[in-house]
Amino acid sequence: MAWLAMALCFWFYPGGPAWGKYNWLTKRAATKPSYTIPGPRGLPIVGSMNLMVHLAHHKLSAAAKSFGAKRLMAFSLGDTRVIITCNPDVAKEILNSSVFSDRPVKESAYSLMFNRAIGFAPYGVYWRTLRRIAATHLFCPKQISSTEAQRLDIASQMVSIIACRRGEFFVRDILKKASLNNMMCSVFGTNYQLGSPNTETEQLSQLVEEGYDLLGKLNWSDHLPWLAGLDIQKIRLRCSKLVPRVNKFVNKIIQEHKLQSGNTNRDFVDVLLSLNGPDRLSDNDMIAVLWEMIFRGTDTVAVLIEWILARMVLHPEIQSRVQAELDEVVGKSRPLMESDVESMVYLPAVVKEVLRMHPPGPLLSWARLAIKDTTVDGYHVPAGTTAMVNMWAITRDPDVWVDPVKFMPERFVSKDSTDVEFSVLGSDLRLSPFGSGRRSCPGKTLGLATVTFWVGTLLHEFKWVPSDENSPVDLGEVLRLSCEMANPLKVKVHPRL
Ligand code: HEM
Repeated sequence: MAWLAMALCFWFYPGGPAWGKYNWLTKRAATKPSYTIPGPRGLPIVGSMNLMVHLAHHKLSAAAKSFGAKRLMAFSLGDTRVIITCNPDVAKEILNSSVFSDRPVKESAYSLMFNRAIGFAPYGVYWRTLRRIAATHLFCPKQISSTEAQRLDIASQMVSIIACRRGEFFVRDILKKASLNNMMCSVFGTNYQLGSPNTETEQLSQLVEEGYDLLGKLNWSDHLPWLAGLDIQKIRLRCSKLVPRVNKFVNKIIQEHKLQSGNTNRDFVDVLLSLNGPDRLSDNDMIAVLWEMIFRGTDTVAVLIEWILARMVLHPEIQSRVQAELDEVVGKSRPLMESDVESMVYLPAVVKEVLRMHPPGPLLSWARLAIKDTTVDGYHVPAGTTAMVNMWAITRDPDVWVDPVKFMPERFVSKDSTDVEFSVLGSDLRLSPFGSGRRSCPGKTLGLATVTFWVGTLLHEFKWVPSDENSPVDLGEVLRLSCEMANPLKVKVHPRL
């Protein structure tokens, strides 16, 4: 009875039970009401778990509007205190603050070893070392340009496969395989042909899919610790089955690399094996880092390209304009090269406009955690609070963007040569699909280069049309770890060259 009475008292506070517990125990609200961030109470004990299922970015945006809390809203996920913003200035304050440089603990991430990789490693020396190694050997401009031939090769394999398709087909599978092969080549040095199935790629793609599903799920026991022993969603069980398979797969590749010392064609495994002194990683940490790179680099790229192609099918006049630019810069007698993209303005504008309307991480994929007490937008935010940014809501806010729901790449084409180009890499929070600040995406330049080049190639080679003139493209979404098209894009193509 006492427990129930306490639960109801906690629930009474704006923001729900987790905020109520904090305010009650610290007597904050009683002394300083201005500390109270507006937000939904949700239900007693569980708080607003309902907001985080299905299309969470839509629900959170609607809740922020109804509470007049677009700048900052508080809510509870069980015992977890959460703040979320739909405002670019407050987003900047959160993401660029050193206080929010940690990630909240997620059981599935720990079980899948991601706490030993960049994404979920606690903020500190180990995380900084990993970021430095990745920045120097995988994401630096020199390394990105040295893998250009690999991206070109995979692009031409995609073109050959698509050219053989008669009638309508789903494009997702081709994009996912291309993206996986690309990451496998950079990370493991393996070079498989897209058209010829092989067991290694099939196996890895299954591991990635399963990991993706597990990490994208809202795990009730992350927020209700008293449920942890029960594993009602079977997430712990599935993680414990997946991890030995990942270990076996990646460890085999590491051991093969150890035997082939002296290899001149250096991939990321070779780089990690060549590190000495304090940078040297244990085999287990190496597995975590390599697995994360494959995991993060594969789906984001494929998901974004599918959205771009969907928009191209839906807006044939915009597709024709990109193709006119491609014909002007490249001509029709040779394939697109990455260096051509530098002379183009409309193709990058299309990519930015799709990132605006369909950010692969509408809530920026992974939240942040306050490592100490701080102030956000004038409100007190205690240590241990989870912070999120609703990038989807920001990019659809009429106070931030003119005609936000209209697909209009022209908005990114500067009218004047003195206009500074809009950067999507994290400096302007009106559109920051790769996050911002210390924990922003380290793969952003590589990801953007791959997406722009592959989309350019696919549009240069083919005209993309709907599979059925009477059924337009369905832009419905499904939110897993990334936000994908709910119904995979089905198309027909006509060769252009
Ligand atoms: C279109 C492509 C991509 C998008 C939209 C994207 C988006 C994101 C976002 C939103 C975050 C969280 C940022 C934050 O908290 O501020 C992130 C983190 C991360 N991304 Fe990406 N990403 C993409 C491609 C890649 C690629 C190609 C790789 C690696 C090969 C990668 C590796 C990572 C890693 C390791 C982190 C965790 C960083 C940390 O916690 O320090 N991403 N990404």
